[in-house]
Amino acid sequence: MEKQGKDYIVFPLDFSSVQQAYDYVRLLEGNVGMFKIGLELFINQGPSVVEMVKKESSAKIFLDLKLHDISATVFRAMQRVADLGVDLVTVHCSSSQAMLEKAVQGGQGKTDVLGVTLLTDNDATAVAAAGLKDEFVDDPNALVMHRAQMAFDAGCTGIVCSGQEVKQVKQQFGKEFLAVTPGIRPAWALLENDDQKRVTTPGQAVSFGSDLIVIGRPIRDADDPARAAQKVIDEIEAAL
Ligand code: C5P
Repeated sequence: MEKQGKDYIVFPLDFSSVQQAYDYVRLLEGNVGMFKIGLELFINQGPSVVEMVKKESSAKIFLDLKLHDISATVFRAMQRVADLGVDLVTVHCSSSQAMLEKAVQGGQGKTDVLGVTLLTDNDATAVAAAGLKDEFVDDPNALVMHRAQMAFDAGCTGIVCSGQEVKQVKQQFGKEFLAVTPGIRPAWALLENDDQKRVTTPGQAVSFGSDLIVIGRPIRDADDPARAAQKVIDEIEAAL
């Protein structure tokens, strides 16, 4: 079936309780393509939350675990992730290509791996403090592209990147390599003192080539979240 506007939307279940997560799954079912389960909810609720989302929704599941460990451990952890039947999982690119390869192998083609290149709260100062090369301190975007190359070479399905990086990622790695973009703010939902600094609108992100947009608070905090999701769908469809 052809990809529809809703299939671009990833809604993060950024809650600690399964009840809140359940309420939003019920509210948004049919309006989003994927639910993202992050560390807070997974640590608090464990695999049962994955079961809940599967039972209540036909959307795909993105487990945002941001794995980073020795290759053998990541391989075994990924086998368990694949057993859970989730569609996507995140793994840091800041270790080795071997670790990324093992993550992909552990996913057994059941769970796809997305590389996390550089966390958005890591600026040039953080890159320098981590002891990385001067060329990356001078241009953290070069580090993003370097790590994207590692993810690509390891057989990852794609990476997480900002809307501003999508064009370059698509140019370099082709349209099959997924670009998943957080930091999405529709023009009608600009937040005061937002912690997301480099934001793009849903329409901009998909027109730059984003395959999936992660959009939380503009939908979660709207008076009518399902209606807000529908507005995002309309904006995506207009931009496609
Ligand atoms: O749209 P909102 O800012 O509420 O989305 C927050 C979600 O996006 C969180 O689940 C967070 O983990 C995720 N995220 C992010 N920035 C990144 C990567 C992921 O905010 N660079």
